[in-house]
Amino acid sequence: MDQQQITEAVRSRYSSIARQVTDGTSAHCCDTTPTCCGETSAAAASGNTISQDLYTVTELDGLPLKAALASLGCGNPTALADLRPGETVLDLGSGGGIDVLLSARRVGPEGLAYGLDMTDEMLDLARHNAAEAGVENVRWLKGDIASIPLPDASVDIIISNCVINLAADKQPVFAEAFRVLKPGGRFAVSDVVIHGGLPVGMDESAAFRRDLSSWSGCIAGALTDAEYRAGLAAAGFTAIDLEITRRYTLADVGAKLPMWAQTLDTATVAAIISRFASTFVRAHKP
Ligand SMILES: C[S@@+](CC[C@H](N)C(=O)[O-])C[C@H]1O[C@@H](n2cnc3c(N)ncnc32)[C@H](O)[C@@H]1O
Repeated sequence: MDQQQITEAVRSRYSSIARQVTDGTSAHCCDTTPTCCGETSAAAASGNTISQDLYTVTELDGLPLKAALASLGCGNPTALADLRPGETVLDLGSGGGIDVLLSARRVGPEGLAYGLDMTDEMLDLARHNAAEAGVENVRWLKGDIASIPLPDASVDIIISNCVINLAADKQPVFAEAFRVLKPGGRFAVSDVVIHGGLPVGMDESAAFRRDLSSWSGCIAGALTDAEYRAGLAAAGFTAIDLEITRRYTLADVGAKLPMWAQTLDTATVAAIISRFASTFVRAHKP
């Protein structure tokens, strides 16, 4: 599995999800594999979804239904980030735009919220949602989070919601985030993190790493907490802090286990899953 294959698997998955939301053929994003947004459609129906209940009714008030339906995150970065009026925000992997729209509200008319995504379908959906919400202080950028199409030192705060784990190579993403932040800028990201790492052998498991569904479902590509800290520090960030917002259980995986888990006993799978958690990652650009 090379980096291009990973990127194409991710692109194909999220383009397809965006089309389903746009066409109204899916009330949610999930098919048969665990995803950032939750689990199988059966599990989603039973309420076990990682993307469920991330936003309060007050936050969703005034936002288009399709922005909420396309919410595929694993946290609520705008609730945990300290957004201030007049600031410029960048959302890495903005999807249907929910966090960009919420950020735009928080930074107000003097501020600006950018959404960056690599799929035309998600960007079209986000533009549609912004127009429907009547939000004007937003800009949509097409591109890769590993090569951000913005100048150096142009952003006050970077948010992201369950996207960095999808990147085939995380270090360029951290380096680019550092580059576009102004001095004193903040990194405030929700992501899936493997706390304590994987059991010995599992981290090198070819089956695990080859499972593209798991990767595009935010599992195989997740960093460990130690890797996250080291990657951010190597890019130049300081004041790095990881806060678990939700630890996963077997119930989050749904009825159909991903390929890598199918040969393992239930106790082992449960132990592995419990190491994965939605995590809020904060860091600072000096
Ligand atoms: C799990 S969804 C999250 C969407 C959104 N942040 C949310 O919370 O609803 C991942 C999104 O990131 C985008 N994405 C994934 N990898 C990307 C990359 N390398 N560069 C730009 N966008 C990417 C996908 O197209 C998709 O819209």
